[in-house]
Amino acid sequence: MQLSRKVNIAILGATGAVGQELLELLTEREFPLNNLKLLASSRSAGNKIVFQGKELTVEAVSETSFEDVDIVLASAGGSTSKAWAQIAVNAGAVVIDNSSAFRMDDRVPLVVPEINPEAAAKHQGIIANPNCTTILMGVAIYPLHQVQPIKRVVVATYQSASGAGARAMAEAQTQARDILDGKQPQAEILPYPLAFNLFPHNSPLNDQGYCEEEMKMVNETRKIFNDDQIRVTATCVRVPILRAHSEAINLEFERPFEVNQAREIIAAAPGVKLVEDWQSNYFPMPIDATGQDPVLVGRIRQDISHKCGLELWLCGDQIRKGAALNAIQIAELLLEKNLLSVSNSAVSV
Ligand code: A2P
Repeated sequence: MQLSRKVNIAILGATGAVGQELLELLTEREFPLNNLKLLASSRSAGNKIVFQGKELTVEAVSETSFEDVDIVLASAGGSTSKAWAQIAVNAGAVVIDNSSAFRMDDRVPLVVPEINPEAAAKHQGIIANPNCTTILMGVAIYPLHQVQPIKRVVVATYQSASGAGARAMAEAQTQARDILDGKQPQAEILPYPLAFNLFPHNSPLNDQGYCEEEMKMVNETRKIFNDDQIRVTATCVRVPILRAHSEAINLEFERPFEVNQAREIIAAAPGVKLVEDWQSNYFPMPIDATGQDPVLVGRIRQDISHKCGLELWLCGDQIRKGAALNAIQIAELLLEKNLLSVSNSAVSV
């Protein structure tokens, strides 16, 4: 990335799964970095992380952590974001927050750069990174929505362990080993064993029987698409996959959507890749989406139960486009569009 300004970044949650991916992406995308600060809880303060050949020390987040920081990439959970985001903004930083803490706050833009980059311009210091399943679905279906508005979405998700963090990923691997060794699997991070199992998403349920994850897909899609009319219903399920989510999506339009046109639109859309080989029954798989930037989309077909319906299937890396990559893209957008008011002298211009 070629930009004249170099910025000071702090990663809050640097030791987590998303934090680690953010580090990789900063290097991979040649992010114009001046200084990098690694923040986490006191549990990992003092830990060393090698970044671009230099050993950096993880610091416990504190009142003084955000001095001279231009952008905070926060991925340390909602309560940590609630505790520190405003402090960071008061210190002059823009916070790109990966938690759900501020997503539905009217003052906070909820941004997927392929969908609503213009929303970022309205930020007041905090920009929210949407829920991972919502981002993956959004980049796949928004190009179709632009051609013909989607009336209704029915989605079922197949969500990897990474959505619950690095410790959930490690737990799933340990469970798999234990089961193969004939031992009883232990579940501490997620409520039930995930290895060789699956279960409905474990977020809290509302009075209508929907879990929080499902309601994020409903509400965040409307906010990102800037469309209160679009109806979404979701069933979210955790599956024994490490870091890529899959989704089966049924779309209903006002009029029939020609399936070949849908394929052409998906094939040309930013952030997605059409993966379909009908001869050999080869379609997106989590194993192929892992470590990849684009959301893989395939099995686009006419809904035989509804003349205005389309079916599609996608897989996307939950840690990349579902979290870290989207956050970095927002940071790049802030720099490209000059949406960062950099007021501190530590920045080299
Ligand atoms: P720590 O290593 O100190 O626990 P994941 O989502 O993969 O579980 O990662 C969560 C990240 O958020 C980790 O970097 C973790 O740091 C950090 N974190 C969790 N709680 C806090 C907190 N109260 N203050 C700061 N960082 C936190």
